[in-house]
Amino acid sequence: MRNLKYDTKELWRQDRDHYVHPWTDFSTFKKDGSEIIAESEGIYVYDSDGQRYIDGIGGLWCVNIGYGRDEMAQAIAEQAKRMCYYSTFTHITTPPAAALAAKLAELAPGPLNHVFYTTGGSESNDVAVRTVHFYFNRLGKKSKKKIISRIDGYHGSTLLTATITGVMFDRIGFDTIDDLVHHIPCPNPYRRPDGMTLEEFGDQCIADLENKILELGPENVAMFFAEPIMGAGGVIVPPPGYHRRAQEVCAKYDVFYLSDEVVTAFGRLGHFFASKDKFDLQPDIISTAKGITSGYQPLGAMIFSDKIYEVISVPQAEGAMFTNGFTYSGHAVTCAAGLKNIEIMEREAICGHVRKVGPYFEKKLHEAMHDLPIVGDIRGSHFMLCAEYVADRKTKALLPPEADIGGRIARIAKASGAIVRPLGHLNVLSPPLIMTEPQIDELVAILRASTLTAMDELKREKLWNG
Ligand SMILES: Cc1ncc(COP(=O)(O)O)c(C=O)c1O
Repeated sequence: MRNLKYDTKELWRQDRDHYVHPWTDFSTFKKDGSEIIAESEGIYVYDSDGQRYIDGIGGLWCVNIGYGRDEMAQAIAEQAKRMCYYSTFTHITTPPAAALAAKLAELAPGPLNHVFYTTGGSESNDVAVRTVHFYFNRLGKKSKKKIISRIDGYHGSTLLTATITGVMFDRIGFDTIDDLVHHIPCPNPYRRPDGMTLEEFGDQCIADLENKILELGPENVAMFFAEPIMGAGGVIVPPPGYHRRAQEVCAKYDVFYLSDEVVTAFGRLGHFFASKDKFDLQPDIISTAKGITSGYQPLGAMIFSDKIYEVISVPQAEGAMFTNGFTYSGHAVTCAAGLKNIEIMEREAICGHVRKVGPYFEKKLHEAMHDLPIVGDIRGSHFMLCAEYVADRKTKALLPPEADIGGRIARIAKASGAIVRPLGHLNVLSPPLIMTEPQIDELVAILRASTLTAMDELKREKLWNG
């Protein structure tokens, strides 16, 4: 508990009356308003009344090096004083923008040597589509524009990236762009057809991709979008070999593979980038954001291959330019934060810590949860994990929506001092990467105890037979 002096009531009112949040639930917001998270340190956040919580979500899968780092605050303040901003349009740069681009090119796998800055993950994906369309236009392949992505893939919330996103819940009431994006089934091993082996399922997922390219016509397909491990769609780890095989299919039809590493990069799976080091995948483009500054500043980047650069950098007709970008592309302060974040990660060997402690985290979560009959699946990798709840383990049937199982467990956990993310009938764990084994034990123990309490409540409320 911290002794804090915030006017919680007034802040609550200001927020409820004026701030429309991402993913507002208007069925409760006008009455309940928001909880106010005000301060932070290490793996903990504090609400405006001073109550401390373990942040089992890492902000939103992003506060990788943990909260309250003086060095980060200093790097940001020093850059803001030295020069808060200068445009990087046309041929002007700033020292942090140049140095970070070189560092990202060094860290990214293979020929991904070119960086285009944005302010977040949606923009990184959005700009990637625009760049790839430009690429095919330059080659005179004007029809090669369509995008393939997966059901339950999440790629952002602009009109274009919401269209690429395959989480159908996120589309309710909103429009999407017609006939640009085509979705193939989700490679979710837990929900594969009964009796199908994992290997057979992997074959089917790859066939889904190839068949979709053939159905649309390879001359019309520009890109395939995939997260190494799906995040917001339910922490879904595809069958072994999936990404490498999907890349082979893409290469066969001259389709670019965009690996959406907005969540998985910067250490969450134990590497700066997961594509190559964890999944043996050499993408054409990596989009990233979040952990690139550990959430200390809003920065994103599209990192792309020499092959794409060589085509888009050939001068067009006289006077034409690569007219793509934002006022805050390569913002000096965000890039200074990115450089310092990477420096800290390297100095403290945070990827190595995740590779060592991640398997412990997975094992402890399994041990704590596997015997609970309401737990259908525990999955994920390293610091990107989740528990899926079901009414019946055999049939994998879901609990009724009024059970609000993910939200219910999250509420109970919060009252016990830990924030876990409710995602429909799941709880997601994606804490800061600096978590130690005893802290993991505490988080996992709270999740187990909260699940047991929720099970009792559901039985009492006759929402689950047990
Ligand atoms: C895989 C993935 N891609 C893209 C995005 C969108 O990023 P942003 O919210 O920074 O626009 C997210 C956000 O969670 C994400 O998880």
